[in-house]
Parts: sequence; C-alpha cells; structure tokens
Amino acid sequence: LDSEAETAKRLAAYRAVDKNIDFENHRIIGIGSGSTVVYVAERLGQYLLDPKYKPFVEKFICIPTGFQSIQLILDNGLQLGSIERNPVIDIAFDGADEVDTNLQLIKGGGACLFQEKLVSTSSKKFIIVADYRKWSPTSLGVKWTRGVPLEVVPSAYVRVKSDLINKLNCKKVVLRQGGSAKAGPVVTDNNNFILDADFGPIKDPKSLHVQLKLLLGIVETGLFIDNADIAYIGNSDGTVLIAP
Ligand code: A5P
Repeated sequence: LDSEAETAKRLAAYRAVDKNIDFENHRIIGIGSGSTVVYVAERLGQYLLDPKYKPFVEKFICIPTGFQSIQLILDNGLQLGSIERNPVIDIAFDGADEVDTNLQLIKGGGACLFQEKLVSTSSKKFIIVADYRKWSPTSLGVKWTRGVPLEVVPSAYVRVKSDLINKLNCKKVVLRQGGSAKAGPVVTDNNNFILDADFGPIKDPKSLHVQLKLLLGIVETGLFIDNADIAYIGNSDGTVLIAP
C-alpha cells in the first residue's frame, strides 16, 4: 500500500510540473514542504539535466517554505532564492494534508504552514500535489483527523488552548511534541509551537479560519482558504484526478 501511495505522489507531482511550468515565462518558483513536493523538485532537477530545458531551468529561482524545502532545492541543483528578494512568485507547488472539492486545504502536518502560506499567497498560481488519501469530497476534517495545525507564539499556548475549547468549541487540542525524536514541543522554522486542534468535520472552513485568527497568540492557521488554483491528486490505479 505504501508504495502505491508513493507512486501516486510521484505521478501527481510530475504531471503538475509538466502541465504547468511555462519554461519561457516563469522565473520565480515556490517549492513547498513534505514528502510529495520532493517529486516536484526531482522533476525540475530532471529538466535541468535535459539540454533542451537547461537554459530555462538554470535561470529559475526557487523560493523555499522551510528548512526541508531549502535542502530539496539545493539537492536537485536548483537556484535558491528568498521571499524577501523575490516577493512575487510566478508559480508555487506544495502538498496538502487534506483537500476538499472547493480546493480548501488543511496543511501544516509537517509544521511548515506559516512559510508555506507566505509563499502560496504570494504566488500568481498555486498548484497542489497529493495522493488519493488526501482527497476529501465531503468536508475537511474527515480524512485528516489529527486536527487543524495552528502555529502559536510559545508563551501563549496555554491561553490559546483554553480559548479554543471555551470560545470556539474545539473538541480536543494537543501541543505537538517530538515523540521519540525529541522530548518536548515541536518548534517551527519560526521558533513557534504547533497546536493540533480537532473540530471534527469542518462545515465552513473559511469562517473557522477567520475566528481562529482573532485569537491572541495564533500566528497562522493550517486552513488554506481560496488559495489553491489546481490540485493534482494521484490515484492508486495510476490515473491523476485534476480538480476543480
Ligand atoms: C507541511 O507543513 C505540510 O503542509 C505539507 O505540505 C503537508 O503535510 C503535505 O505533506 P506530504 O506531501 O508529506 O503529505
């Protein structure tokens, strides 16, 4: 099953790059985080080795969404840029933890949500690459049941936890911890904490996002609203669903 999902990820990522990169006109490319976008960087690296595409791809400046993303860009021989130098991005690719039919997303399973959102909302086109396990036709919060990832200022995490329960009817909030890899909280690339807030199935992701943003201490939410333009969802049978 694992290798089926892996094949689906690669297929979705390759298709997304092949169909959306405009070699002549794109210059600034956003590269997200996670295990699916690995194949986006891999595909760009393949184009870089092809004499026909090399002159274009070597001019691409890739904007990362975190530490892992920086490594991905460098490992594939691509040029690393920064969002400060290139605040307008032509096209960005990223994975997602859950995607609904309106292309509303849950992201942040890998704790990179703030920089991912900075890049995706600075991009003229935002493309999602994912496998079939992420596709949730009914609503968000059905396939991804760990809760909405929230990036919070460390000193405010107790306050945010209680506000989530008391003001927003959250069912359960967990401070993300490093598990066997680290004793203590996960610290984001921006030195913040992550709370995973379970609201069950989410009827109105946009209004939940707005309510969350009003709580003191929440830097950003893993709900990506009206942001993605296209999603490439790899299926286990080797086909790719393109939404919407
Ligand atoms: C990182 O914080 C996340 O938003 C990732 O984009 C998301 O978890 C997708 O990762 P996978 O491609 O590994 O599922």
